[in-house]
Formats: sequence, structure tokens, C-alpha cells
Amino acid sequence: MAVQILLLSFFLLYTSSSITASDPCSSPSHSDLSIVHIHGPCSPFRRPRAASPMPWLDETKDLERVSYLANRPISAPVASGQAVGIIGNYVVRIKIGSPGQTMYTVLDTSSDVGWVPCTGCTGCGTAQFDTSSSTSYEPLDCTLPQCTFANGASCPTTGSSCLFNQSYGGDTLSAALARDVLVLGNGQVANYAFGCVTAVVSGGGGGSVPPQGLLGLGRGYMSMISQAGALAGVFSYCLPSFRSYYFSGSLKLGLTGQPTNIRTTPLLRNPHRPSLYYVNLTGISVGRVNVPIDPQFLAFDPNTGAGTIIDSGTVITRFVGPIYEAVRDEFKKQLTGPFTSLGAFDTCFTATNQAEAPTVTLHFTGLDLKLPVENTLIHSSSGSLGCLAMASAPDNVNSVLNIIASLQQQNLRIVFDTVNSHLGITREVCN
Ligand SMILES: *[C@@H]1O[C@H](CO)[C@@H](O)[C@H](O)[C@H]1NC(C)=O
Ligand SMILES: *[C@@H]1O[C@H](CO)[C@@H](O)[C@H](O)[C@H]1NC(C)=O
Repeated sequence: MAVQILLLSFFLLYTSSSITASDPCSSPSHSDLSIVHIHGPCSPFRRPRAASPMPWLDETKDLERVSYLANRPISAPVASGQAVGIIGNYVVRIKIGSPGQTMYTVLDTSSDVGWVPCTGCTGCGTAQFDTSSSTSYEPLDCTLPQCTFANGASCPTTGSSCLFNQSYGGDTLSAALARDVLVLGNGQVANYAFGCVTAVVSGGGGGSVPPQGLLGLGRGYMSMISQAGALAGVFSYCLPSFRSYYFSGSLKLGLTGQPTNIRTTPLLRNPHRPSLYYVNLTGISVGRVNVPIDPQFLAFDPNTGAGTIIDSGTVITRFVGPIYEAVRDEFKKQLTGPFTSLGAFDTCFTATNQAEAPTVTLHFTGLDLKLPVENTLIHSSSGSLGCLAMASAPDNVNSVLNIIASLQQQNLRIVFDTVNSHLGITREVCN
């Protein structure tokens, strides 16, 4: 309950701060998404800016071989970040180093390079990876190809370490590329290359940097998924309810143990945004009504970056303005009002009318995702209001992108298969 109060009060804060006239992201002068860093200030992936107990609510990369312990499914525990005080994102319990040191890293399908805060880091929290007590820790030289892939890497002289800076939600991380053993549940990735963060410099992101690091699950070269050797290229997760405090969700690696005979939709590739998992959203139904949507707002365009992605690091699903408005209007038609706004949500209603709320179904090529009620509605702290838990994309350069976010992915198994280039979704209760 306290969480819900915080949650909604943060939405309110966010809304009031996002309508300033000098919003640098409001100019539609650039159509090429490649110029906007995914975690830059104008990105829909932009992380929160205010230091908040609920920072996510703002918006809400083979190298080496893998050794794995047995020929059985590799699975690591996943929880809503609030289980460990990292509110707003989902975290996966990892161990890094020898012997392994436990960290709760944010699960991010839209990032490639992973990182953890290391001993002596300035601007980091107290949970830090003690490199000196790991016998397998190895800093990486800047002449290595991994260094070239790490964002912002430069190699001034041979024999120097691979240092790089990366922006994240308005803040900047300084890190040294290193490698060590990464243990994920009952499996491990040897020689996992990641950023050992030495400093976090606040640039208005205000505490948006995941305090215990990030596990990059994007499609790029430096992603843990690319580094996972024999297990590479296929993973799935089940995210428990964001209200849950249990590590009952899971991240499963490799083909073994993934659900079979499930509906899939093709994954699309955007060369300008190689980390992202694009899918073809072809329509949205509210109740029995297929909402009329101009296909231009759904179309995948690798040149502009337009289309639809599935993302674990964004909280609230965002549709481009015209899509959101059409969905919302149809939703309102089928439910008794009056309707009010609450924070980021503009379609809130008396909770007692909730039974009337129509089901929202996302249609993808080859796959229909009928959203469970908990993935469609969110409640006010008092429980008296229910709100349609989706919003319009921020009105900026990235407003062509539809993002299917984590609130809409609770208690589903989502399988990312880059080998066969498809994404599968099936219901799985993992609370
Ligand atoms: C990272 O940023 C810091 C602070 O701005 C700067 O001193 C340092 O040279 C940068 N490092 C790299 C590798 O760009
Ligand atoms: C997406 O689906 C639409 C409707 O079926 C189809 O016309 C379009 O070609 C598809 N786009 C891609 C990139 O597969």
C-alpha cells in the first residue's frame, strides 16, 4: 500500500515536471533516431531524473567460451527491484568473481554492455564488487576488440586499460572494461566482459543509475546474451508482479528448458538500433473492437527507427500519440465514467466499475497477446481508482517508437530467440 502511495505521488511529480516549456526533447527537428542515445535525455528509455524512492516511474552488449554446469536449463532468480530496495526495475540475482559476490543487477533488454559498481567507486552505493578479492578478475586491455565495442572506448596507448564513459538516464558512468566469472543461477559465463564502474557523475539523471549494476540483454556484441557461448542467442524471462517481494521470477538462458509450442512473432532488425528487440505490432483490440489505427503509426522503418519494441527496462507501455488516443477513446466508450487523470495516467475511473473494463489485446504478426487485467490496470493508493496503465509516448524525437514495457509483461514468459529470430509469449504465473 505504501508502495502504491509513493508510486502515484511520483507519477504526479513526474507529470508536473514534464510539462516545462523548455523541454529540450520537444523539438521534432531530427528524425534519425540513431543520433539520440538510448539512455539520453530525449530517449523514451531515459531513466528517471529525480532522486526518488520510485525512480523508475519517470519513464519510465562471443567473446569467450561458456562453461555451464550440466545439460539442464540454466535459470537465475528474478524479482521486482523493490525486493532489494531498487524500485522500479526488475533485478536478477547474479554472482560475479571467484568466489562469487552477489549483486542484484537490473534486467535491461535494451542495453548491451553490462556493469557493476566496483570497490572505491565514487558516487556509487555501498554494494560494490570487490575486485581484489576475486582470483579470476582481469582488467581488459584497450587494444582488445571488446574495448572497441564498449561505448565511448578509446585506446590512447597499447598496454593501457580499456576505460569508457557511458551515459545512462542523464547520468554518466566511468568504467574500466574487465572480465570475470558471471554466475547465473545454476550456470556460469566464464570470461564475462563488463564495465567495472569507478565513478557515477550525476548529470541530472538524479539517482537513475541502477545501484548494483545492470545486466545487458540487448542484441549487440557486448550483451551477456552474445557472450553466453553455447547458450548464446536465446533467453526468456518471467517477471513477477511489480508489487511482489519474492525472487519467484526467472531468467532462463539457452534453448534447453524454454517453453515449446508457443506462439511466436518475428523479431525485426534495425541496423541503427542493433540492441533493440523490434516486433511487428499490427493492431490493438479493446474488448471486441479492433481499434482503427493508421498503419503508418505501426509500421517498422529501420531508417527512422519507427516501430515497436519489447523492453524490460521501461515501466509503462507507451504508444505514439495517435495510437494511444484511439485505444484510450475506445476503452472509455466501453466503461462507465467519469474519467480523471492521475499522474502519467489520463484514464482513471471508479474502481468499482472495474469489472466492466474491456480486455486489451495486442496483435503481432502471428501472435495475439491478450493482456491479463493486472497488466492493463493499475490502482491508486486507496484502491478507489483504477487507471489504464499505458500512456502516450513523450512528444519528442523518439515519439515514433512504441514500447511494450514491463508493467504489461508481468506473469508472462517472454522468449527472445535471436537464433530463429522470433519472440514467443505465453502465460506463466511467477509471483
Ligand atoms: C570520462 O569522463 C571524465 C569526466 O568528464 C573524463 O575526465 C574522462 O577523461 C572520460 N574518460 C573517457 C575514457 O572518455
Ligand atoms: C507488419 O505487418 C503488416 C500487416 O500484416 C505487414 O503489412 C507488414 O509488411 C509487416 N511488416 C514487417 C516489417 O514484417
